[in-house]
Formats: sequence, structure tokens, C-alpha cells
Amino acid sequence: MKRIDLDANATTPVLPEVIEAMLPYFAAQGGNPSSAHAAGQRTRSAVEKARESVARLLHAAAKEIVFTSGGTESDNLALRGVLEPYVDRGESAHLITTQIEHHAVLYAAEALEKRGVAVTYLPANAEGVVTAEAVASALRPETRLISVMLANNETGAVQPVGKIARIAREHGVLMHTDAVQAAAKLPLDMSGEFKNVDLLSLSGHKMYAPQGTGALFVRKGVALQPLQFGGPQERQRRAGTENVPGVVALGKAAELAMSWLDSDAALALERLRDRLEQGILNRTEDVVVNASAARRVANTTNLRFAGVDAEPLLIALDMQGVSASFGAACMSGATEPSHVLVAMGLSVREARASLRLSLSRETKEEEIDRAIEIVSAAVKRLRALA
Ligand SMILES: Cc1ncc(COP(=O)(O)O)c(C=O)c1O
Repeated sequence: MKRIDLDANATTPVLPEVIEAMLPYFAAQGGNPSSAHAAGQRTRSAVEKARESVARLLHAAAKEIVFTSGGTESDNLALRGVLEPYVDRGESAHLITTQIEHHAVLYAAEALEKRGVAVTYLPANAEGVVTAEAVASALRPETRLISVMLANNETGAVQPVGKIARIAREHGVLMHTDAVQAAAKLPLDMSGEFKNVDLLSLSGHKMYAPQGTGALFVRKGVALQPLQFGGPQERQRRAGTENVPGVVALGKAAELAMSWLDSDAALALERLRDRLEQGILNRTEDVVVNASAARRVANTTNLRFAGVDAEPLLIALDMQGVSASFGAACMSGATEPSHVLVAMGLSVREARASLRLSLSRETKEEEIDRAIEIVSAAVKRLRALA
């Protein structure tokens, strides 16, 4: 029987239209976009068309889009690109970020800290949200950058980024948001709600394009030091020949996201997520939905089953053909509890009892109904064994 993929926040399926758009750029039309000849110029125009599509998704200008290798590089480019010049000049700099960020931000912040940047890591409240007030009270005269993610990858909780960005702008501080888990799920308007956001990260494989492609929105006028040295690609902000098939795929995924966001599909996905959540709640005792009171992206639920360890649960689900995840990083063989759930105030035991289920645009109602039965039965079995 076909597996049920409830781990779309780890990676989304690549849509057939995306594959179709990128295929020609692996071979026949594959000139170097920096070459002056016709083959190169054909590729260049495909890259620029993709840039325009990504810019349209964000209500931004094409010149504000820098193509990267994914979310991790975009986050690193944003944080290090803004803050390393201060380190190089021996000037003091302070970064405000949160304890619920992805490791791409957290570890970049830690690396900057080792080089002398002061960093504040704000906790989330019990609903998994970092408030604008908490950010405002962490501001210092030498704060140069605020980095707060838009949607959390584990709970789906949406952070008040528009409000935080307004505070940043009022204080002359740059604002970055990791929108990897929000893109193609929520409308992103860099001229409206997010007009005060200076830098925004995207990743292709969370929005139905392949792995290894992404983008960083860099608002006009924001100075960014590149991470790597080489050619003048991407307006000197990211050296290296562009990953043309990946860029074309991201452009196509952005176009598809725009029509998806304009349709009723987002609401239908939310209903499917709620059906899954409610179905499990109805059939299982002692379940709590983590961050349920927060505004959440439509595809994510994070469920806590009292007295159950999510690791054997995950294995049991895998054996039954369900792909899920728990917010734990496997480090040197030992699974750590989710840093996100711990930052919300959950105990290590509670964090270890939590399971993330994330749907994609391809998830079917029939799969949800099967998943409800499989998850509820697996939880019952594990509890009986305990
Ligand atoms: C919120 C968030 N930021 C960044 C990343 C990293 O993106 P990539 O896998 O494209 O490097 C991820 C991936 O899981 C993510 O969920």
C-alpha cells in the first residue's frame, strides 16, 4: 500500500509541473547564464523569468531576489552578511533572535557569538509565540539585527513578524525572517504586511521545488557582505554559477503557489489538518495539541501523547507506512528533546512525547482517515506495553 506522507515540513513532493519546467535546463538549453552567446542568454532569460516569479510571490522587485542553495544558506547569508562586517571592523554588534529558530539560524548566531557578537535568544510563550513586546524589551543601542522566523517548523505557530519589523524599523535595526515554513502557505507581502522586513529566507524543497535551491529577499539598499568569493553573480551577493534547473524550478513553484494561495485550497488543507487532529483527539485519551491557541500554518499539527515516547511511536508508524516526525535532533546517536518545545516551557518528558504531523497539497482525505486509525492504534499499543 502507498505510504502516507505526513512529514511535508521535512520536504515537500516536487510537483509534476515543476519537474516539467526544469527538465530542459539539465541538457539541451544548458548554457552558462553568464555567457554572452545565444545558449547562455537563453539560460539567463530563464533565470531572470524565475526571479520575476519569486519576486511576484513576495510583492517585491526582481532585483531584491538572490538565489541560493536553500534555506540554510539564505539564513547564513542574512545573519553573517549583516553582522560579520561589524566583527571585521571591531565594532560592537547585538543580534536578537529566538530559541525556537531552526538550527540554520541558531548555529549561525552561535558562530557569530564566538566572534564577539552579543546575542539574545528569546524564549517563546506557552503557545510557541515570541511576542513583539519581548523583542522590544531586548533592544539595545548596539542592536543591529533582529531575526525571528515567520512560521515554526515544528508547531506551525506564526510569529508576529510584521509587528516586530515595525519596531525594528522605528529603532533603525535591520529585520530578518526565516520564512522557509511560511512560504507557499501564507501570503507574503513585502510591500504590505512585511514592508519593514529587510531580509527573508525561502527554501525550494518546502514549497514543492527540489532540494538544494532557495532564495534570500534582500530589500533595496540593504548592504550584505557575501559569504563566498568568486564571480559577480547575483549582483555580487552570491558568487557561483546559478543552479539553473533549481532556479527555474523555484520560479515555477512560486507561480503555482500564487494560484494555490488565491484558491480555496488553503482552507481545504486546513480542514484536512483539523480532521486529522480531531480524529486523533476523539479516538485517543490524554492528547494535547501543542501551540493550539496560536495562529498556525494550515498544514501542521504537533500532538503530545501523555506517557508515550515519540521515538518508538515514530518507528511503529513508519512500519505501518506513515512518515511522521518528532522535533528531536539526532546528535551523536542520542536523540535530544525538541529545543522548540522546551523553549515553550514543556518538560523534557513532554517534549519527548510529542509528534509532528505535516500535510502537503497532495495529501488526500482517505490518507488522513487511515492515518487517524494507525496513529490512535499505535498510541494504544505503546501505552498497553508501558
Ligand atoms: C524553518 C526552517 N529554516 C531553514 C531550514 C533549512 O532549509 P534547507 O533544508 O533548504 O537548507 C528548514 C528546513 O527544515 C526550516 O524548516
